[in-house]
Amino acid sequence: MNTIKIIKNFIIFNTKPWLDFFISSTNLITDIKDLQKIQHKSWDTVREIFSKKINELNLKTGVEIGVAFGGHSEYMLKNTQITKLYGIDPYKHFWFYFDPMNLSQRKFDFLYAFVIGKLNTFGDRFELIRTTSEKAVRYVDKIDFIYIDGNHSYEQTKKDIENWYEKINTGGLIGGDDYDHPSFPGVKKAVDEFFKQKDLQITVEHGGVWYVINNNLK
Ligand SMILES: C[S@@+](CC[C@H](N)C(=O)[O-])C[C@H]1O[C@@H](n2cnc3c(N)ncnc32)[C@H](O)[C@@H]1O
Repeated sequence: MNTIKIIKNFIIFNTKPWLDFFISSTNLITDIKDLQKIQHKSWDTVREIFSKKINELNLKTGVEIGVAFGGHSEYMLKNTQITKLYGIDPYKHFWFYFDPMNLSQRKFDFLYAFVIGKLNTFGDRFELIRTTSEKAVRYVDKIDFIYIDGNHSYEQTKKDIENWYEKINTGGLIGGDDYDHPSFPGVKKAVDEFFKQKDLQITVEHGGVWYVINNNLK
């Protein structure tokens, strides 16, 4: 009788952490899929704008700063002829940064693995770089376009534009999201300051997608 009890306790003791891990992982997948559905409802409507420009200008290489669920990266890879897209996202929780996409570290770790799996089908055309946009600058050579949709504070958007503007080939495209988003007023401020000072025209389309086209770039 005692032996059975010992075996039973042994099994419970040894399998419980794995069972807990499995259950909490299952919840995480559900959480992430739910969050993805909500985000995609609002983000999907604006995806076509940037890809249309990429096609018009026949651009081949680019960067997306802020990949999140990989929805926009996937859209660009499916709907354009780009040969190389670098996705940059630290998948890291930042304290005191208020954004619904500033997930918990556990969710970010999971999301990172989820996105690798999701975009794996594109092979070498897609490379996910898990770091901040600031650090990633040195890993990427000249590119044709950059889509800025990472940290939406004024300071970071300004840095992203300044750092990545230099990387764009002549005839390229620089743009991003949330130009007139009420929660992120810093985006518009940074974009306006930078391009107005250079006397370059900013186009803003629905959903807050903004861009400055090719021959404008000096
Ligand atoms: C709004 S989501 C991106 C959505 C994605 N572009 C799309 O349209 O599907 C913002 C992402 O930016 C990432 N992020 C935050 N700070 C960043 C930084 N400094 N560099 C790059 N990505 C950053 C976050 O981890 C988050 O996944």
